[in-house]
Amino acid sequence: MPNNSSAPAPVFYAKNVTKTFGHGKTLVKAVDDVSFSIADGEIVSIVGGSGCGKSVLAKVMLGLYKQNQGEFTYRGKAITDTRSHWNEVQSVFQDPFSCFNQFFSIRSQLKDALNILKVKPSKAEADARVDAGLMAVNITPKDIEGKYPFELSGGQMQRMLLARIFALRPKVLIADEPTSMVDACVRANILDYLMKLKVELGMTIVFVTHDIGLAYYVSDRLFIMHEGKIVESGTPDEVTQHPQSPHTVQLLEDIPEIHKEWLKR
Ligand SMILES: Nc1ncnc2c1ncn2[C@@H]1O[C@H](COP(=O)(O)OP(=O)(O)OP(=O)(O)O)[C@@H](O)[C@H]1O
Ligand SMILES: [Mg+2]
Repeated sequence: MPNNSSAPAPVFYAKNVTKTFGHGKTLVKAVDDVSFSIADGEIVSIVGGSGCGKSVLAKVMLGLYKQNQGEFTYRGKAITDTRSHWNEVQSVFQDPFSCFNQFFSIRSQLKDALNILKVKPSKAEADARVDAGLMAVNITPKDIEGKYPFELSGGQMQRMLLARIFALRPKVLIADEPTSMVDACVRANILDYLMKLKVELGMTIVFVTHDIGLAYYVSDRLFIMHEGKIVESGTPDEVTQHPQSPHTVQLLEDIPEIHKEWLKR
């Protein structure tokens, strides 16, 4: 724990956190001795190439993995009860289709998601929250009435995941590559929805991506990861204008042309 008792505990606090898989010759240090803290209401992006440990770190934050070494807390406490953790900390992952059951209507699944809440909303309130969630992502509720996941496109389903977040209103959202399946236009919309979650609902957001251009656009702070370590962190301007690590320079070179425009704005 950070030892400043008058300040509120950070949302996430990591001190020398390591998460390994396997042992001996097969040992993988997916997350290797990372330390950071994330404050209430921040959007922090974890940026790095494939296999650098972004998703494993995201899963530690979700309480799906426990670190092998170091200290990790959520608002000052270790994560022991995942169910109550998920009341406050929710996620959207890469593939929206794996998050929805093909055999139930979308609306019923959005409503069922509210069952995770400690205080269950009434039927009327649940309907109202689902409607509000859909409208927050610019979908008219009646347009998905009676529809099943297979009847929607990948981009529409990704918006359904965000509608679920708008309906659930968790305190914290972990968004792991939520824009990977969509075209540039829908991608920009999703980033706008993330910012709307922060501005309108005060949500703390951890955004995981390999694209530093996207991260620049939405974040208050960037963590650059490479081989399990956070090799650099700072504001988007600090990190992109004065990169300190060669891995950051590499990520900047890898930005798709279209997002380079954002860096110049
Ligand atoms: N359950 C697991 N068992 C063993 N190794 C794992 C497990 N999960 C992840 N790893 C390994 O940990 C490392 C980091 O994986 P992680 O999924 O965090 O990468 P990532 O940065 O999210 O990559 P991507 O951008 O491709 O999603 C990889 O070497 C991966 O193979
Ligand atoms: Mg990943």
